[in-house]
Amino acid sequence: MVFLKTDEEIELLRESNELVAKALAEVAKVIAPGVTTKKLDRVVEEFLADHAAVSGFLNYNGYPASICTSVNEQVVHGIPSDKVVLQDGDIVSVDCGAYKNGFHGDFAYTFCVGEVKPEIRALLKTTKESMFLGIEQAVEGKRIGDIGHAIQTYCEARGYSVVREMIGHGIGRSMHEAPEVPNYGRKGNGPMLKSGMVICIEPMINLGTKNLVFERDGWTTRTLDRKPSAHFEHAVAVRSGRPDILSTYKYIEEVLGENAI
Ligand code: MF3
Ligand code: CO
Repeated sequence: MVFLKTDEEIELLRESNELVAKALAEVAKVIAPGVTTKKLDRVVEEFLADHAAVSGFLNYNGYPASICTSVNEQVVHGIPSDKVVLQDGDIVSVDCGAYKNGFHGDFAYTFCVGEVKPEIRALLKTTKESMFLGIEQAVEGKRIGDIGHAIQTYCEARGYSVVREMIGHGIGRSMHEAPEVPNYGRKGNGPMLKSGMVICIEPMINLGTKNLVFERDGWTTRTLDRKPSAHFEHAVAVRSGRPDILSTYKYIEEVLGENAI
């Protein structure tokens, strides 16, 4: 069942999604070689508590942390740990959920740690650009397949591959609602987009093979060939004529300056 949100509900969703955007700006301030992913988790936990919100991830199907931190070949759902120390040249996808006023925020950005190889920075840049191309399709009258098609064609034309096992989703009073939003697809296919739908568009794009495996912890996914993977996510309200992006990279970019992707 797809829930169409009222304007008031969309403003509450905007609040939760602004909050995750600001939480990741706090993460951006501390990311550096030598920092553990557990530290990033604590930064977000404190920030959310200070803003009368809780993590939408903690205890979700038993998930044990407030954010997901997925390093290099890890795709998504990496668990923060005091044993994972970020190294110069790493990339780390930080995925963050916040629950406030009955609505969820869900948001991700892939950060560079120190000096990252141009080849890998290019993967991040393409992944982020493809997300915005997908978002452009999130207007009334288009179809879910138009979003995936835009993302897939852009990334595959540059030699990258699109993860199939994990996809975007509707968001609202639950973190995951209908419809499903794959990052691949055919133009004109799938459910019709209607004004008031709120969806998360979150391409996961790999440098090598699209195939994944689960790590032993039962959560973390990584690429089969251990080549790097990038992930960016925004929540978007479908509107007539234009998409309304509910989260923003503005706060992260203010912190990262020239180093932003
Ligand atoms: N943003 C993630 C997603 O949409 C949510 C992860 S929830 C967790 O899949 F509990 F697995 F962390
Ligand atoms: Co999501």
